[in-house]
Amino acid sequence: MAYAENFILPVGNVGETKSMYKEVVLGGDVWDLLDELMIYMGNPMQYYEKGVQFVRGVLLSGPPGTGKTLFARTLAKESGLPFVFASGAEFTDSEKSGAARINEMFSIARRNAPAFVFVDEIDAIAGRHARKDPRRRATFEALIAQLDGEKEKTGVDRFSLRQAVIFICATNRPDELDLEFVRAGRIDRRLYIGLPDAKQRVQIFGVHSAGKLLAEDVNFEQLVFRTVVFSGADIRNLVNEAAIMSVRKGHSNIFQQDIIDVLDKQLLEGMGVLLTEEEQQKCEASETAISVFYPREDMVDQADSSDGELIKYRWDDPHVIPANMTPEVSELFTRELTRYIEETEELTINALKDNRHILDMIANELLEKSRITGLEVEEKIKGLSPVRFEDFVKPFQINLDEEGPLPHNDRLRYQPLDIYPAPLHRC
Ligand SMILES: Nc1ncnc2c1ncn2[C@@H]1O[C@H](COP(=O)(O)OP(=O)(O)O)[C@@H](O)[C@H]1O
Ligand SMILES: [Mg+2]
Repeated sequence: MAYAENFILPVGNVGETKSMYKEVVLGGDVWDLLDELMIYMGNPMQYYEKGVQFVRGVLLSGPPGTGKTLFARTLAKESGLPFVFASGAEFTDSEKSGAARINEMFSIARRNAPAFVFVDEIDAIAGRHARKDPRRRATFEALIAQLDGEKEKTGVDRFSLRQAVIFICATNRPDELDLEFVRAGRIDRRLYIGLPDAKQRVQIFGVHSAGKLLAEDVNFEQLVFRTVVFSGADIRNLVNEAAIMSVRKGHSNIFQQDIIDVLDKQLLEGMGVLLTEEEQQKCEASETAISVFYPREDMVDQADSSDGELIKYRWDDPHVIPANMTPEVSELFTRELTRYIEETEELTINALKDNRHILDMIANELLEKSRITGLEVEEKIKGLSPVRFEDFVKPFQINLDEEGPLPHNDRLRYQPLDIYPAPLHRC
């Protein structure tokens, strides 16, 4: 039987859910749906007695690496129900007809119902173009027939226990799917699994760093702004790379700096910039410069409740920005700066709309001199654009003699998450 190896027999009891899914970090709607499905699977007959047709198909969609396949795999292991699975690609590249394979999958599932059928990368079968190709058309039609569950095609009565088969499928390209396929009655539930938010990223980091030796200073919460558009798979990769980095440096544990180094490396690689060791050291200096305009959350104090809008910026080194940069690093600096300004408050955008040369000027200045102070940057900008200077510089202004918060600026708003530019390698 072709699907014997793709067929998982139950372990544990039906209904033992959630706590067993700790390693899958997804939004509440996923778990609500899982609850709903498991209640049904626990006793499908009670629905049939009332003439109710339960959910047939569930579509998981979203960007790659967000945990769709992981969710299905975990469901297979933990649901306590039989599970038949395949990937869409398998249907297009085998000698056996795709339609026969679909029928076989459903037949195994129905014989073991209640059961799940999972097809990953469903766009290979149910993509909009599938029906144009005669061979793929047959596969598509077999799938539709199985989902519709009519007796002539499946040999199974409408309200028999053998209908208690839930079809789950996943795709990164929901927009590619055939509308016939995704209509209600076939696909009744659609779940979008998006990129993880800050809290989920921290949890995912926890999942993937469990069992690894982390130094005490590791604090992933401090890195949420640097991992804004990371998927779960990206975070897993980051932890792995940091582990490799720590071994390379001869550390016994993974330190926070190892993770930061990997992030910096990815940032530069994303730009096609390959650095020598020496340049990498220089890059560290430029990082401080970047941080002036690209505050990381360890430099931004979350405002206290009395004046919730206040932004407080602090520089790593309050007095000097070391900036002995190579042209590549300078380019990085300029781009980072441009992106930050593009994505930050409107007032800054307005201030710079006609003054893009300011950015180049700052980068050049940093290239020529080995060091430049924050006040010098201010002076330069002042000279270039006196009218708009106030607006531009306010978010970054700092009194070097004074510790503590900046004066309150009504026009500035602090949005706790996701206002910071995505790391360059992601774009
Ligand atoms: N939400 C998540 N929670 C925990 N780990 C995740 C998550 N998303 C992705 N991962 C990690 O990345 C790997 C690849 O994700 P995968 O499920 O194949 O993504 P998708 O199918 O959505 O493209 C997973 O095996 C897991 O290690
Ligand atoms: Mg997948």
